[in-house]
Amino acid sequence: MTLLSRRKILSGGAGIVAASWVDSTMARPAAAAVPESFSFLFITDTHLQPELDAQKGCRMCFRAAAREKADFVLQGGDHVFDAMDVSLERANRILDLYEMTEQEIGKKIYHTVGNHDCFGVYASSGASVNDPEFGKNYFRRAFGETYYAFVHKGVHFIVLDSVNITPDRDYEGRIDAQQVAWLKNYLSVLPAGTPLIISTHIPLVTAFYTYADESPSAFKHQAMSTVNTREIIDLLHPHNVLAVFQGHTHVLERVISHDIPFITGGAVSGNWWQGTHLGTPEGYMVVHVDSTGVRTDYKTYGFKSTDPKNT
Ligand SMILES: [Fe+2]
Repeated sequence: MTLLSRRKILSGGAGIVAASWVDSTMARPAAAAVPESFSFLFITDTHLQPELDAQKGCRMCFRAAAREKADFVLQGGDHVFDAMDVSLERANRILDLYEMTEQEIGKKIYHTVGNHDCFGVYASSGASVNDPEFGKNYFRRAFGETYYAFVHKGVHFIVLDSVNITPDRDYEGRIDAQQVAWLKNYLSVLPAGTPLIISTHIPLVTAFYTYADESPSAFKHQAMSTVNTREIIDLLHPHNVLAVFQGHTHVLERVISHDIPFITGGAVSGNWWQGTHLGTPEGYMVVHVDSTGVRTDYKTYGFKSTDPKNT
């Protein structure tokens, strides 16, 4: 394999760095420069719930976020914990709590759907699939469509819905066929070299299984990454993708594959509000975008878990 190029990465923080080299047959077009530098925040896996001081923690994080010089916030999903396995009354209560707490940020927020943001997925919740709030309708009511795009200072942001609710009332990571068609269409009309940033809750690419406690066989469905990653990479690779931002695994990680950085942004909730998770503490990510690409800075915000299991 011919070594061709590797995007220059500037990053701080703990976590995994990996790289896969790109064959010369996979050369990408010259990238257009970002027209204007800016910063945004990637805030993911807040897991807001009434227990474990989660509201206090989210409030601390959101107040720190409000003080950052950033144009907007990209929320990476799992806003609440949990809507999949609870009654509608509980699901509505935690969503109300989230929406109220989120107002602390005082910035425009773009939302990415997470698995825990889908109501009544597990049969054990007692919910009916015919409930008008079932699954992603619960998310849509609060935050709008589950996949969409927006443009900021010349950079196209594409927010993907990576959560596929399976017929057996479980979930898997997948960008579904309807969305793939939409993505293909969206990309087809972009001028060559248009800078792109992608958001997805369930990672497209991750090294998580190489150091996690769980093995892939611990789940009925592929839950820690998307099953059709290669299909999505084939679509993205010819384009100028500055980075893909990911949530779900609560670790700070950067994997470069096909010359694209896949950046998993830790978690506001750390280890589900019980300390650090696989070396990643509670935090949020400041992302600087300029003509060299993206530079990230993962910041903790002073939360200390009071959970007895963690002391
Ligand atoms: Fe999560």
